[in-house]
Amino acid sequence: MKTFLITAAAVGTLSTAAYAESHAMELSGDAAAGEAAFSQCQTCHVVESPEGETLAGRNARTGPNLYGVVGRQAGTVEGFRYGKDIVTAGEDGLVWDEESLSAYLQDPTGYLREVLDNKRARGKMAYRVRSEEDALNLIAYLHSLAPDANM
Ligand code: HEC
Repeated sequence: MKTFLITAAAVGTLSTAAYAESHAMELSGDAAAGEAAFSQCQTCHVVESPEGETLAGRNARTGPNLYGVVGRQAGTVEGFRYGKDIVTAGEDGLVWDEESLSAYLQDPTGYLREVLDNKRARGKMAYRVRSEEDALNLIAYLHSLAPDANM
C-alpha cells in the first residue's frame, strides 16, 4: 500500500508536468474528427460551461459533465455520483491528461484496476472507445472546448 501511494503521488506529479507541456503545445489528436466522434458519448455526457452553456451534447447526465476534463482531477464533478474506484484514483493523484484519458477511454475498468493495482476495481462507465485514434481525437476536441478551464 505504501509503495502504491508513493507511485500514485509520482504519477500525479508527472501528469501535471505532462499537462503543462500539452497545454503549451498541441495535443496529438484532431479536434474536428473528435467532434464527430463525440456522437458516441452524448447519450451519457454533456459538455457544459460553468456559465451553463451547452458546448456539446444535449443534456445527458448518466455520465459527468466533461467540461475541462483534460487537466482535471479524476472523479471530481460536484454532485455527480461516481463509483468509488474512480474517486479513489483521483484522490491518489490521477489528473486526466492525454495518456491517462486515452487508456481510460479504451478500457475504463481495466485502467482503474491498473492505476489502483486492484483487480477488483470497477469503473461505472459502460462504454469503450474502439481505437486509440478516436480516443486521441476526442481528447483534443474536449480540450478545445475548454482550453483554459484548469489554468
Ligand atoms: C453508457 C454511458 C456512457 C457513455 C456512452 C460514455 N460514458 Fe463516459 N462515463 C460514464 C459514466 C457513468 C462515468 C462515471 C464513471 C465512474 O463513476 O466510474 C463516465 C466517466 C467518464 C470520464 C471520467 C470523468 C471524470 O470526471 O473523471 C471521462 C473522461 C469520460 N467518461 C469520457 C467519455 C467519452 C469521451 C465518451 C465517448 C467516447 C464517453 N465517456 C462515453 C458513462 C458513459
